[in-house]
Amino acid sequence: MKRRDMIIRALQAGALLTLPRPLQLFANEKRNPILTEVTGNGNPLRFPTVFTNGGTMTLGLSNVQVWPSQNTQVIAVNGSYPGPSVVIEKGQTFIANFINNLTENATTHWHGLSTPELMDGHPKDPILPGNSFTYTFPVTNRGGTYFYHAHADMATAKQVYKGFAGFFIVVDPSENFNLPAGQYDVPLCIQDHRISDIPNFNYNPGTYENNWGYLGDTVLVNGTPDAYFEVGRTLYRFRLLNGSNARVYKIAFSDNRSFHIIATDGGLKDNPVQATQFMLSPGERVEILVDFSSNTIGQNVTLQSLAFSHSGTLPYKQGIALDIIRFDVVNNNSSGGIVPAAFNPISYYDPANAIVPPRTFILSMQSQHPMHRINGFTFEINRIDFEPRLHDLEKWRIINQTADFHPMHTHEAQWQVYSRNGNTNLPPNDKGWKDTVMLNPGETVEVLVKFTEHKGIYLFHCHNLEHEDDGMMMNFKILDPIGIQQIGTAVPETFALHQNYPNPFNPSTKIKFDISTVERSSKNVSIKVFDVSGKQVTDLYNGDLNPGSYEVDFDGSKLSSGIYFCRLVTGNFSDTIKLVLSK
Ligand code: C2O
Ligand code: CU
Ligand code: CU
Repeated sequence: MKRRDMIIRALQAGALLTLPRPLQLFANEKRNPILTEVTGNGNPLRFPTVFTNGGTMTLGLSNVQVWPSQNTQVIAVNGSYPGPSVVIEKGQTFIANFINNLTENATTHWHGLSTPELMDGHPKDPILPGNSFTYTFPVTNRGGTYFYHAHADMATAKQVYKGFAGFFIVVDPSENFNLPAGQYDVPLCIQDHRISDIPNFNYNPGTYENNWGYLGDTVLVNGTPDAYFEVGRTLYRFRLLNGSNARVYKIAFSDNRSFHIIATDGGLKDNPVQATQFMLSPGERVEILVDFSSNTIGQNVTLQSLAFSHSGTLPYKQGIALDIIRFDVVNNNSSGGIVPAAFNPISYYDPANAIVPPRTFILSMQSQHPMHRINGFTFEINRIDFEPRLHDLEKWRIINQTADFHPMHTHEAQWQVYSRNGNTNLPPNDKGWKDTVMLNPGETVEVLVKFTEHKGIYLFHCHNLEHEDDGMMMNFKILDPIGIQQIGTAVPETFALHQNYPNPFNPSTKIKFDISTVERSSKNVSIKVFDVSGKQVTDLYNGDLNPGSYEVDFDGSKLSSGIYFCRLVTGNFSDTIKLVLSK
């Protein structure tokens, strides 16, 4: 049996305390019977079941007891709310046979993970009611706390609010830093719901909620209302996930204790950083180490969200103070974990290497629906908004022109945050690998990004799920490095295939061409290269292109010196140029 399988079986059997570190995750699923409950109020923290890799994930409506002795209808995975936790080692292949037993379309997105295009859960690839789909991809991400959640077209917010989300924990066995493990490694999925709706997860956003987001006034942790968790006088690792639709939390403890931030969205930081508070916006994850050794048995401390100012109207207001979970100190057990001096170094991108100009995204708010826009656009499922190329380092400048928070998220890569309002001295929860970054009202944030794994169509959007469903989202298509790039925004008057530059060339050259609205009517554009005998050596492009000027790279490094012909065909128009490869 592989070590990974052993872990899973042990987790299922509840034989948790004998497991090797650092893989004793979710041990709390079976609570240690020697713990005594000292404070009583509230509900013990729940832990989702652990997903067996290769198994089935069935999405459907279920009645579960979220509040004691009352049923809540949720959208559950395998009957579990939150969904079962995936725990998988880096390098393994994740497989789930996903069955949609809802009466509406569904997709599941693996937030933060790099996957092939068709595995990403894009709303363009829905699983129809009653249908199934096998999601499978090799897990190439760093060890860290990721999650999965609904991503159906304009139904993401509702499906997540009703429960469709779960952890996806990637374990990298080579990252062995003697962190607290097993029952001392605790995932906390934080979601807000409404006291007035108890025990229901009603989701009926009005104009106000579509505008600011669907906010609650009570916090569930791993689906537990008024949660408490019993701890020993020792060091713990908490993996915080903001799984809320729209709520931003200002995380701190009731006694203002300090803790160490050890990980961001994309895994461990380079160094633990001491802090007493940080902001956690929807979609973000932060891992912290918290030491209870200076507490005495019988004491408790509450993880809270501190009040902060925000425009908006009561009762569902952003920035209200909330209790998240209470930690009751009940014993002297030791996790044996430490706060390491350092983790593995992160090589930070050099912005000087980013292609110019940076991409600019302006977040705005219109008075009419759809209200939330990026660069004036609202999401169109079939429109490609921009086309980064594999391996290019890009700088994205995101400008928030609104009075609201926007946790911006990219699929398929981890960013590095570069600056906030021009300031490169970043808070510790920004520094490291990030797939979601919060923009405060009026703020400009720059991130650096490099797509390195897959070609294809992915999303960039606001993770306030009401904003996302309202259209604050863009498609981008990752192109091959030898791919097509649009130059400028002007629409040319006439069709043209320009002479390549340089020519002669070695080993690569650039070919520019113009597509006007006339040729665009035929949609298909084909660019092929032939050798002197007329044999095709490569297909540079074949597909639809909007009217515009383009540039494509032709790489002759695998070809021998000689004359080649590049032919562009679209509709009734065609042209050919002569390329001279001289090695
Ligand atoms: Cu977690 Cu496209 O989102
Ligand atoms: Cu995502
Ligand atoms: Cu937003």
